[in-house]
Amino acid sequence: MKKLFIKTYGCQMNAYDSARMADLLAPLGYAGTETPEDADMVILNTCHIRERAVEKVYSELGRIRKLKDGRDGRLLVAVAGCTAQAEGEEIIARAPAVDLVVGPQSYHRLPEMIARLARGAGERVEADFPALEKFDALPQAVSDAGVSAFLTVQEGCDKFCTFCVVPYTRGPEHSRAPEQIIAEARSLSARGAREIVLLGQNVNAYRGTDANGKSWSLAQLIAAIAGIEDVLRIRYTTSHPRDMGDDLIKAHGDIEKLMPFLHLPVQSGSDSVLAAMNRQHTADQYRELIARIRESRPDIAFSSDFIVGYPGESDADFEATLQLVRDVDYAQCFSFKYSARPGTPAAAAKKQIAESVKSARLDVLQKLLLSQQDAANEAAIGKTLDVLFEKPGRGATQIVGRTPHLNPVHVVAPQSMIGTIHPVRIEALTANSLKGSLA
Ligand code: 5AD
Ligand code: SF4
Repeated sequence: MKKLFIKTYGCQMNAYDSARMADLLAPLGYAGTETPEDADMVILNTCHIRERAVEKVYSELGRIRKLKDGRDGRLLVAVAGCTAQAEGEEIIARAPAVDLVVGPQSYHRLPEMIARLARGAGERVEADFPALEKFDALPQAVSDAGVSAFLTVQEGCDKFCTFCVVPYTRGPEHSRAPEQIIAEARSLSARGAREIVLLGQNVNAYRGTDANGKSWSLAQLIAAIAGIEDVLRIRYTTSHPRDMGDDLIKAHGDIEKLMPFLHLPVQSGSDSVLAAMNRQHTADQYRELIARIRESRPDIAFSSDFIVGYPGESDADFEATLQLVRDVDYAQCFSFKYSARPGTPAAAAKKQIAESVKSARLDVLQKLLLSQQDAANEAAIGKTLDVLFEKPGRGATQIVGRTPHLNPVHVVAPQSMIGTIHPVRIEALTANSLKGSLA
């Protein structure tokens, strides 16, 4: 038996891809391991979204090189994911320890690449976009799925926000066929999944075509998956405000298994920054959208991504972002300093913002977001909420699960309750989670 260590950076889609790569290499005799030290093969599944993410990859490759040198080269090293896609040949040149580079749409070719490498022949970089091919070529998974499982339904992005590398690293939008997705959801539930998280770079732009040539929306797909008895909860991420269709908004009110939590990135609250970013909507249109979704599902909680210090962002623009945050009232958010990415239009903009200004703005924004998050958590204390238990918690007696609003909750309860939903009385707030007891 050979051992495979996969290190995953970045988004949930990479986590899904890492699991599929493990499934793909299992028939070649590779079993997973938790450390690179005892691995025969290392895969770094990389992220390219911000400069920091890329720096992390190269520094990890430095460590891997030492490990490989210490073993006279007996370690197979592959770089997968979005940095592989964006910097293929450069990685081989900069990091000689790397044997193979494979982009996010080509990793189904890993077995043949490994075989070719063993023969000392063939290309070491695969970075095409044969999107139709990949999902057909991947094997049926047989391993345990975990209580909450990711399922990629859509990949790529056609929006071309001016700051973002995704349209270049993940390619054009492509939706999987609904039958294939429903079969995978059934397989996941048969292997223990009770929550399915539908993934896509632009998941609500999902438009799958079935065998009869009929086009499906994300709302229709969610309704079909809700029909699988053992699937108890459904979530989806990440969505674009422009693609929030009426049927999807309605689904939040109609489909009980669809959880009342929505990640709906807005990036900025300033109309001029939104226009410069090519987001294709105004701040007020976003506010109206939030109001319509709340009408459909009054208890829904929202999260978002924000970028501060986009080129040209003025103090007034930043103030507009703070105002939007106050108006919406988020449960939790991600916020970032703008990072200029090679090849994107915004990187060439003249009015780049000083690092010190970006840091100061991020600080102010994060304080506001944190105060909203704390308030949302505190509001849960004293309530009884349905918790889906996912895994063992701290100590031998605790298990941990999530509320409908995605908050982790630690509870003293038997391990046999993992995979079930039970009402929990929320009693206290700890550093990053809630504490409660079975109701
Ligand atoms: N700089 C900073 N943040 C970025 N994001 C995407 N591109 C950049 C960039 N160049 C953020 C956006 C997106 C999230 C996944 O990452 O907020 O929603
Ligand atoms: Fe990037 Fe915009 Fe596409 Fe999201 S919608 S992946 S931010 S280009």
